[in-house]
Amino acid sequence: MAGSRPKDSESTTGRLWWRDGVVYQIYPRSFQDSKGDGIGDLEGIRRRLDHLEWLGVDAIWLSPCFPSPMADFGYDVSDYCDIDPMFGSLDDFDRLLADAHGRGIRILLDWVPCHTSDQHPWFQEARKDKESDKRDWFFFRDAKPDGSLPNNWLSIFGGPAWEWDEEAGQYYLHSFLKEQPDLNWRSPGLVSAMHGVLRFWLDRGVDGFRIDVIHRLLKHPELRDLPVIPGREGHGYGGLEHVHDENHPDVHASLRDLRKVIDEYDERMTVGEVYVTDPNITKDYYGKGDELNLAFNFALVHAPFDAARIGDEIARFDALVPAEGWPDIVLSSHDAPRHASRFDHPRFGDDRARLAAMLLLTARGTPFLYYGEEIGMRQIPIPEDRLQDPLAWTLHPNASRDGSRTPMQWEPVAGGGFSEGDPWLPMGDSERRCVADQREDPASLLWLYKNLLTLRRASPALMSGSFRRLEAPEGVFAFERLHPEQRAVVALNFGEDPITLDLGGGAPIGGLTTTYGAFLPPDLSSVELTEASGLVALTGASSGA
Ligand code: GLC
Repeated sequence: MAGSRPKDSESTTGRLWWRDGVVYQIYPRSFQDSKGDGIGDLEGIRRRLDHLEWLGVDAIWLSPCFPSPMADFGYDVSDYCDIDPMFGSLDDFDRLLADAHGRGIRILLDWVPCHTSDQHPWFQEARKDKESDKRDWFFFRDAKPDGSLPNNWLSIFGGPAWEWDEEAGQYYLHSFLKEQPDLNWRSPGLVSAMHGVLRFWLDRGVDGFRIDVIHRLLKHPELRDLPVIPGREGHGYGGLEHVHDENHPDVHASLRDLRKVIDEYDERMTVGEVYVTDPNITKDYYGKGDELNLAFNFALVHAPFDAARIGDEIARFDALVPAEGWPDIVLSSHDAPRHASRFDHPRFGDDRARLAAMLLLTARGTPFLYYGEEIGMRQIPIPEDRLQDPLAWTLHPNASRDGSRTPMQWEPVAGGGFSEGDPWLPMGDSERRCVADQREDPASLLWLYKNLLTLRRASPALMSGSFRRLEAPEGVFAFERLHPEQRAVVALNFGEDPITLDLGGGAPIGGLTTTYGAFLPPDLSSVELTEASGLVALTGASSGA
């Protein structure tokens, strides 16, 4: 079928959307409910496209919306080529895609290739029938001769990675919940079925995929036992050296094959979740420009609010990403506490979130915004009887990710403009913080995001300039983005005191400060920054040191 495609392209605009643009992550359950059941859906997202277009994002990434028993809220897929009725239908999806494309907004789907749901027909067939060709699509194994589990691997979500299956008469491997059996990417049948899934969506017009836990796609062919880290016996998953279940070298050949499928289509892309914090590992997933288009750098999701640490992480990833690749910047996601809360400080209100917004939208790399961060949504405390995330039971109530998945706060009314029913998770106080109010207030965080996005879109230096860290006093992270036509200088004062600094001179011809109403200095040789504030200044390419 000829799917919907956006009208603009790199050849008409000179901008490649996933490299020069900004991606906005939507957790579909929590964005907008159109049916009144308290759960967000695709039609809801479509009705809110005005907000995304106004904000100025280039693409949205939808966390999984495929049929699923929702044991892990959609990351347990029971049909890769359909939409869960909770979220709508394929027709709803096509409508959303066409409407988004009409506004120049791309859509990324969240593809979960490492495991299915235990309710997926592939797994159902495999467990019933030893002779089925699907048997080898999963990892069914006997106990060791001494009766112990097939190996010592553990699930990331707690407990052993093996579950006994009565029907199969064997154990099966699950790196996450027992409802999420691992898929075997060494089985040619599985590989071609999965490539078919990608083509199904690409033919429909989808612009690319966020790929779930890609660093676990292939395991050691013999599923060897993992070494225990000396002194960390009994420490569960963190006590093992993950040399055979993560980052297996064979994953790269699979990624190259995958890339060929993506490149059969125009201007499509993949961004992979390589859930490691060592960028030395992450960078390998770019290959020689023939594997992932982007690999998430999660270092900032775990970094404290500290100029040196954040500066080091940005500089490190920038230097490591191969020349054929392109970095990305991520501060928050559905798996981690929101950064507005991580960085919160009673003295500073939204100031630190404002500083973070400037970092996200001016550093070199594709920014990934997490829904709600544009209004500074914080973590919402979830009472124990309303917890939803399975990690609350398999690990610990504190491990629940619900606090960062609460409904979007649109309007200052009961239900927050999100739903007319009972929201599936408690809502934050939308009378204190919501999109509608912030749109009325030019001093709001929302307007800062919009202004930064507008500035970025018009600035070749911010979109594609090189990165160079600048000398700066303690507590300040400063850098330059240089493009043949333009120079951008960014200075972020993470400290708790005002500071004056010399950014090498030159008169700004444009830019922004994080403090509403503050002016850009006439010359960059003397820049005053109040505590928890920042500035981006554009100059001609030749100005400055
Ligand atoms: C990824 C997802 C996470 C999910 C896990 C298992 O890390 O981001 O939400 O629980 O994979 O699929």
